[in-house]
Amino acid sequence: MSNNNSSLSSSQNSSFTIDLDKIENKEAKEALAQKVLNKVKDGQTIGFGSGTTSYITAVKIGEKVQKEHLNITAVPTSNEIQKVCEHYGIKIGNLIENELDWAFDGADEAEFTNKWLIKGKGKAMFKEKLNIIASPITYILVDNTKMVDYLGQKCKVPIEVFPQALKYVSKELEKLGATEITYRGFTENNNGILDVKFDKIEKRLEKQVKSITGVIESGLFLEYKNIEIISETDDFK
Ligand code: 5RP
Repeated sequence: MSNNNSSLSSSQNSSFTIDLDKIENKEAKEALAQKVLNKVKDGQTIGFGSGTTSYITAVKIGEKVQKEHLNITAVPTSNEIQKVCEHYGIKIGNLIENELDWAFDGADEAEFTNKWLIKGKGKAMFKEKLNIIASPITYILVDNTKMVDYLGQKCKVPIEVFPQALKYVSKELEKLGATEITYRGFTENNNGILDVKFDKIEKRLEKQVKSITGVIESGLFLEYKNIEIISETDDFK
């Protein structure tokens, strides 16, 4: 098992479902993961996000838990992350029986000034939003490629939709200004996922999208002040 400062490798562990060696921008993501490690304290319940940054963070927390014999409960946001937690003997909790002490997650785009995010490339934004709402603070770990001047600069907005509503929701999204809508497959909740391009993203858009019948959740995170965006260059303590 590697120590907390070393580079992670999948060859250390055949049960990892993401190949750690193939993660894009791996060093930056490891450095970000390292920044939240000292927030992990014995007895805590922690919300675990999804995606590769969260995956690396989960592995590093797992290593720390094993090394220091910590008692940690995780509320994971995807099956993939849950497997990592289970591998390291981290207990699995939920938002009904457990209270989060803090949470961490990644993002696909981050606009620093307003603390606005696009999430959901990993299709897990419904549970990720639930964790953010439930947690007093969520650390959003973003490497420099994720920082944007305005949302929508690089990414489309993922939207999770009840399958029977896909056609109706698409029409309603066009009325809200969607200029491109692509179907991307199914989420872990067996709902459809659409990737949607908006030329302009305003604060009200998150609520407008959510109010369409059939929308489960969107990857717009515009309403959350209880997040701290941590970039590669932050001197985070
Ligand atoms: C998953 C997410 C992820 O946090 C987001 O896609 C970032 O992923 P990565 O760390 O792999 O770049 O929102 O639903």
